[in-house]
Amino acid sequence: MKTILVTGGAGYIGSHTVLALLEKNYDVIVIDNFVNSSKESIKRVEQLAGKNVKLYPYDCCNMEDFEKIFKENHIDAVIHFAGLKAVGESVALPLMYYENNLISTLNLLNLMRKYEVFNLVFSSSATVYGDPKSVPIYEDFDLHVSNPYGRTKLMIEDMLRDLSKANPSFNIALLRYFNPIGAHPSGFIGENPNGIPNNLVPYITQVAVGKLKELGVFGNDYPTPDGTGVRDYIHVCDLAEGHILALKKLFTGCGLVTYNLGTGNGYSVLEVLHAMEKAVGKKIPYAIKPRRPGDIPACYASPDKAFKELGFKAKYSIAEMARDAWNWQKNNPNGYEN
Ligand code: NAD
Ligand code: UFG
Repeated sequence: MKTILVTGGAGYIGSHTVLALLEKNYDVIVIDNFVNSSKESIKRVEQLAGKNVKLYPYDCCNMEDFEKIFKENHIDAVIHFAGLKAVGESVALPLMYYENNLISTLNLLNLMRKYEVFNLVFSSSATVYGDPKSVPIYEDFDLHVSNPYGRTKLMIEDMLRDLSKANPSFNIALLRYFNPIGAHPSGFIGENPNGIPNNLVPYITQVAVGKLKELGVFGNDYPTPDGTGVRDYIHVCDLAEGHILALKKLFTGCGLVTYNLGTGNGYSVLEVLHAMEKAVGKKIPYAIKPRRPGDIPACYASPDKAFKELGFKAKYSIAEMARDAWNWQKNNPNGYEN
């Protein structure tokens, strides 16, 4: 069976993907420095899968530590989730974002080259499309970024395109995620944001559980059907499946490939709020607030390329995403700190 190194495997998307890998009988090695996660997520993944993960509590920016993993293990492919991801924080602390996201990736790529591990899945983001000229968004749209976080994603994509040209032995999948939400249906693993959540769904679930007073809806004057922002929300378990399919593609020797991972459906902030109210079974208080700087009106994927070339199709509905987000929050009001 193949061995997959997962950087950032203790995080939100990483933990769900590690579980999906174990369920498909891959051997999994995780490197995570827990800057935005907890060891508890890995323990719970191991319990759900009934299998163990080889965990290295290292920082990908520390080359000496990182190299031990490549020396000690035979690795067939890497899924690279490790990175900092908060847009607002990246504007306040740009150097921290450039340092962490770029150095960790450069270390990884140098090690992959040295140890001849030529298969990589990279976590990119729909943020690389900026404010798109139209929706749905296709992979060949122009790329624009407007904040340091987004710039790290675009810089890494550029680095990987250059590397692929220079060294055709590399097989690289750039996966551009739209808005991952929800949690494993068991309610045992989920998203565990530090402090007050930036993202819509964790904010709503924390209002629903009584930790926050009301949701602020950032703008109701966008050119969208109800005036609130429209996004392509995708269940984190669907996203995890997308990684398994991308790995299979790498093993065919595909060179560099780029895919949107979304559902192709756009939902407004108020539609998501109403789906969450149904899941929770009560009204969730909200107030209309000014637009959040940097937000765009609408963003949703064309999922066609991932379907045609990977056979990827998101299965979960918005109602199921809301159900699972709430199931996780209600069972774990303090995330992994319980
Ligand atoms: P997350 O913060 O839950 O997971 C990232 C993990 O990486 C964390 O466990 C963190 O501790 C670890 N990490 C960070 N820097 C590290 C380092 N230097 N060394 C070792 N470990 C390190 O985030 P997530 O939501 O699971 O996102 C995973 C990836 O997907 C990130 O690269 C993110 O930018 C990207 N992405 C996320 C979203 C989203 O909305 N969640 C959207 C698009 C892209
Ligand atoms: N929103 C609110 N109130 C909140 C939080 C969000 O109204 O408290 C609205 C936003 O204005 C937006 C929608 O809900 O219209 C979704 O916002 P999120 O913050 O959940 O997600 P974004 O689409 O802004 O950002 C996400 C990731 C980024 C990534 C981006 C593009 O968090 O990392 O998608 O891929 F860059």
